[in-house]
Amino acid sequence: MKHSIATRMEHIAPFHVMKLLARAKELEAQGKIVVHMEIGEPDFDTPAPIVMAGINALDKGYTHYTPALGLNELRVAIANFYKSNDGIDVDKNRIVVAPGSSSALQLVCGVVINPGDEVILTDPGYPCNKHFVQIAGGIPTFIELDEQNNYEITLDDVKNKWTNNTRAIMLASPSNPTGVLIDTKTLDDIAAFAEQKNAYLILDEIYHGLVYDEDVKSFVGRCENVFIINSFSKYFCMTGWRVGWLVAPAEFIDSIDRLAQNIFLAAPTVAQHAALEAFQPATLDILESYRKEFKERRDYLYHALNDLGFGMKGKPQGAFYLYANSARFSSNSFQLAEDLLENINVAITPGIDFGKHLAQEHVRFAYTRSMEQLELGVSRLASYLK
Ligand SMILES: Cc1ncc(COP(=O)(O)O)c(C=O)c1O
Repeated sequence: MKHSIATRMEHIAPFHVMKLLARAKELEAQGKIVVHMEIGEPDFDTPAPIVMAGINALDKGYTHYTPALGLNELRVAIANFYKSNDGIDVDKNRIVVAPGSSSALQLVCGVVINPGDEVILTDPGYPCNKHFVQIAGGIPTFIELDEQNNYEITLDDVKNKWTNNTRAIMLASPSNPTGVLIDTKTLDDIAAFAEQKNAYLILDEIYHGLVYDEDVKSFVGRCENVFIINSFSKYFCMTGWRVGWLVAPAEFIDSIDRLAQNIFLAAPTVAQHAALEAFQPATLDILESYRKEFKERRDYLYHALNDLGFGMKGKPQGAFYLYANSARFSSNSFQLAEDLLENINVAITPGIDFGKHLAQEHVRFAYTRSMEQLELGVSRLASYLK
């Protein structure tokens, strides 16, 4: 039989960095010490209280399905966290637990986008979003963000991209790959503009806990036409447990429930019980110490890369990424990433993984490794690039 793969798969691009990661593994197998600055997840293991809660959940036999919208206690705990951490009241019935924010984003796309609807995204941006839009039958359109403007988005950018078919705008704050935080006034303006047009703001706050210089509140509850996405993956160091959540307008909850029942039934039960421990003071103390360490790493790497000649206008406020202009060293970011891996065993992510706009002239550094590792990486880069 001649197999034919669905045409939608023509649009689903792989992460180019995976090729580099595979090569890094080969080099490590040969005994080389690779400095990993490509990895988009915390190097810290899940805090011990969360792990213990997971073990206890298994011991107690919590191995059956939960409701599709999530464990009631966890939805309540998330609502309570918005209250204690951000001072925001949110009805727990508007909170949906999903297998990672990846699934939360797919749920939102599933209940918001009609075939042919346009969804505005950013370039550079989180690469999966355009695929989620396309799988739902939507058409992604892109606002190109520039180094000169510090990769910041404005209301005018949104207005310029808007057409009669625009149904939603999807943003992340802080962003992957730029680490840039969108200020609340700009988000207010964008959400209000979308509301006038009967459209939605889908805001990914997955890096919300990892903001370093200011105390930023979640955007939950500020406008009625907003979906907020979050996850236990990054700040809470639970990538492999697969638990995330979303806060949706109340009118959408029934549809989200039906879609969740059909596409994944529920987030992993043990992981949901473990996540209950994430908001306890002892865990938050541990996470706060990790956040401080990320801040030190950001400060160090930002200055070190600037000194080496990588272009960055402002210091990004959050996430654990630095998106740098590498045009001084190469006009082909993938080639540059390959050269650095082969010659000095430093792994970074090429800009082409985050979009098309000036992607060949940018690379992403993740500071998800210890200070010693980052210093080793910088000293190798310094000798190689000079
Ligand atoms: C901006 C952004 N959103 C969502 C995700 C998906 O995370 P998860 O599905 O682990 O919650 C990631 C992962 O890197 C991300 O960077």
